Amino acid sequence: MQIFPRTLNFLPLVAALALAIGGGVVTFVVAYYFSPWNTQVGYAPVQPVPFSHRLHAGQLGMDCRYCHAQIERSYEAMVPSTQTCMGCHVTLHGGGTDPHRATHASVQPLFDSWFSVTPEMPQGEPVEWVRVHNLPDHVYFDHSVHLSAGVGCASCHGRIDQMEVVRQDQPLSMAWCLDCHRDPEPNLRPVSEITNMAWERPEGVAPHEFAEQLVDDGQRYVVPPENCGGCHR
Ligand code: HEC
Ligand code: HEC
Ligand code: HEC
Ligand code: HEC
Ligand code: HEC
Repeated sequence: MQIFPRTLNFLPLVAALALAIGGGVVTFVVAYYFSPWNTQVGYAPVQPVPFSHRLHAGQLGMDCRYCHAQIERSYEAMVPSTQTCMGCHVTLHGGGTDPHRATHASVQPLFDSWFSVTPEMPQGEPVEWVRVHNLPDHVYFDHSVHLSAGVGCASCHGRIDQMEVVRQDQPLSMAWCLDCHRDPEPNLRPVSEITNMAWERPEGVAPHEFAEQLVDDGQRYVVPPENCGGCHR
């Protein structure tokens, strides 16, 4: 006895066709969403204080970690506290007749923040920096694993040390993450150079050769995740 009618023999073929056509549409939608057209490259919001990386990280030569010391922790901890700035700016721009006024208007918000500290509010009112980079909540991203693997800030943020105002340099799209995860070698450097914006691989050494040399020198062999669960946890 036949349970299914004979016509259903065509079902697998029909299903396969439907999948192929439907798959094409999905691929297009996915390709659009993940392509650089749909991202915010160049986004550079105005900040409450005209802070310049070109001056501080470039000309003054400060290491990124002087201010971004908590690079593996939360956003709030990532942007430096007023105290980090005032270590220098209290002397640079204080000392006027009114100690609460900066001698230079551009840094007044730092002074306002600094003098808003009270026993009830030991941190004071923080400066309201506007966030530039922002991944959706469904993506897991962790700086520390990238830094300890030898991926430098410049690979993902560009030449921050030359930026007067921080702007998003890379798409931060899924395709962008995956491009590097599939072939990380061109982006690897010695861990000691991760904040060196000007670092370049020695001339004439192929990425693969250089990556091998790094492992010989004791750096870890990297296998970035390409499976969905690696970045969507
Ligand atoms: C003197 C302190 C200081 C130093 C040194 C410094 N930064 Fe910053 N950084 C800041 C402040 C303040 C902000 C928030 C305001 C802004 O975006 O300009 C910031 C913002 C950023 C952002 C954008 C964060 C966001 O909102 O998405 C990136 C990326 C960044 N810094 C990278 C770097 C890199 C790379 C270096 C080293 C070359 C560096 N910084 C050195 C103080 C510093
Ligand atoms: C290591 C010392 C140091 C630290 C830390 C530091 N700065 Fe500066 N900053 C300077 C120097 C030096 C200048 C140049 C001063 C000048 O030209 O009068 C400057 C200039 C500035 C200016 C421009 C002032 C003007 O002339 O218009 C701003 C704004 C500023 N800093 C903000 C910040 C902020 C915000 C932080 C904390 C995230 C910070 N700085 C941390 C040393 C420092
Ligand atoms: C592998 C790529 C990559 C590298 C390397 C990298 N970043 Fe980022 N950075 C990102 C991404 C992606 C975000 C956005 C994270 C989010 O929205 O959760 C980000 C965000 C930031 C922020 C904003 C605060 C935050 O946590 O969202 C700062 C500040 C920052 N990066 C500084 C640095 C510094 C300094 C270095 C080098 C020491 C560095 N980054 C290296 C990709 C990178
Ligand atoms: C320039 C190269 C590069 C880019 C861009 C990059 N990654 Fe990675 N990623 C790596 C390397 C290298 C590792 C380290 C693999 C290892 O240690 O074996 C890594 C590891 C990871 C891990 C594993 C963390 C863990 O705890 O095991 C996650 C998750 C991750 N990346 C997410 C992302 C996301 C999300 C993006 C895009 C927003 C991104 N990465 C962009 C190179 C990159
Ligand atoms: C290397 C990290 C990484 C891996 C691996 C990864 N994704 Fe993503 N995914 C991302 C990032 C980053 C975004 C956010 C892109 C953006 O905002 O433009 C994203 C976004 C998405 C979105 C949401 C699209 C939207 O419009 O917000 C879906 C759905 C998705 N990924 C599915 C997957 C599937 C299915 C896999 C496995 C085949 C996968 N991802 C593997 C990093 C990753």
